[in-house]
Amino acid sequence: MGTGFILKGQVLAFAASPFSGERPEDATLLREAVALKDGKIAGAGTLAEMQALLPEAELVDHAGKLILAGFVDAHVHYPQTAIIASWGKRLIDWLNSYTFPEEMRFSDRSYADEIASRYLDLTTAHGTTTVCSYCTIHPESVDALFSAAQVRGQRVVAGKTCMDRNAPEGLRDTAQSAYDDSEALIARWHGVDRLEYAITPRFSPTSTAEQLEAMGALWAKHPECLMQTHLSEQTDEIEWVKSLFPQARDYLDTYEEFGLLGAKGLYGHAIHLEERERHRLREFGAALIHCPTSNTFIGSGLFDMAGLMAEGQRIGLATDTGGGSSFSMLRTMAAAYEVGQLRGTPLHAAQLLWLATQGSATALRMEGKIGNIAAGMEADLVVLDLASTPAIAQRSGRAGDVWEAVFPTIMMGDDRAIAEVWIGGQPVKRS
Ligand code: GUN
Ligand code: ZN
Repeated sequence: MGTGFILKGQVLAFAASPFSGERPEDATLLREAVALKDGKIAGAGTLAEMQALLPEAELVDHAGKLILAGFVDAHVHYPQTAIIASWGKRLIDWLNSYTFPEEMRFSDRSYADEIASRYLDLTTAHGTTTVCSYCTIHPESVDALFSAAQVRGQRVVAGKTCMDRNAPEGLRDTAQSAYDDSEALIARWHGVDRLEYAITPRFSPTSTAEQLEAMGALWAKHPECLMQTHLSEQTDEIEWVKSLFPQARDYLDTYEEFGLLGAKGLYGHAIHLEERERHRLREFGAALIHCPTSNTFIGSGLFDMAGLMAEGQRIGLATDTGGGSSFSMLRTMAAAYEVGQLRGTPLHAAQLLWLATQGSATALRMEGKIGNIAAGMEADLVVLDLASTPAIAQRSGRAGDVWEAVFPTIMMGDDRAIAEVWIGGQPVKRS
């Protein structure tokens, strides 16, 4: 299977979480080269070491550029690609005005195919190599995304979004059909190539207790799957949840009650959490997904990164396209930095890059496969040009170290900063 590749540049890897020690940069490793073979990372080290490891490999010289694991976007809605940046609504109005009408269109497989491939083109151009996506209630929308990802050899997680109330006619399933359709999709896709199925009840307001119970039963039968949903995004939404489930202790309890709280659960947003919710999420080792561009764009609130990390929560980072206002994990890191500043806790560049790679991979329980550079991991990489525009170049040109050199790209970079993307050991975007 080929002789492999050696990429030379500044190779950034993580030896630990940069949230765990005194100095975030101490958790990182900088190497000179990384070697790729048969879809995997063969090793990282000096150029001489990599050439000894893979003597026949093709050398790709990225002098001055930063090479790291491809970005992992842990919460997106690919069907919202075409309605990104829709003006002026808050969550529930935004769903009803923009999102639900667009999601109706995904009963048409050819439309779903068109958007799935546009979405993967856009995210790849921005350096994202893995996404965890909601689809629509239509099984065809799942087939469309998985088929497009399969052709590209990409690692993707996705699931049919389940809703049986508070959504328009044409966008509602039932408890039974959601169970049956989801189970058929698990059989068709879960574990095929690099694809994984996530059981996907959209959020408590759009599911009856009966449907949440069915989803809990499905997850108990298929514990190999992730489960994704939304939690405590906006205060109005939380009040609505409490009125729909008057017996629940809090929002999380509407999931917990039906078997939808677990270690492989992904809870998007998680902004306005109560003490009991934080405690239970931590106890289960569930993952919270921070969606900072969405939380500012829809006006949801400021995620408590520092507090939640300090208590040992598992946290990933995501665009939440198209409630989020970008396809770019660089832009998303910038927003996470800004939200941190508004809470008085700025994040270090090493922490931001970790969240966008190993942090999100850890949330998806894939930390041993993607999101870092180490021998045996899958060869999904991004190569960052740290001088991609005149404004960025003049700032990074004065940098004293790699963190100062990369920070202007995090704050101001876009797809022009993505010099190359590698998926499964093959180049898919080359400068
Ligand atoms: N809550 C339920 N559905 C959605 C969605 O599509 N986007 C966001 N941001 N929040 C949600
Ligand atoms: Zn979402």
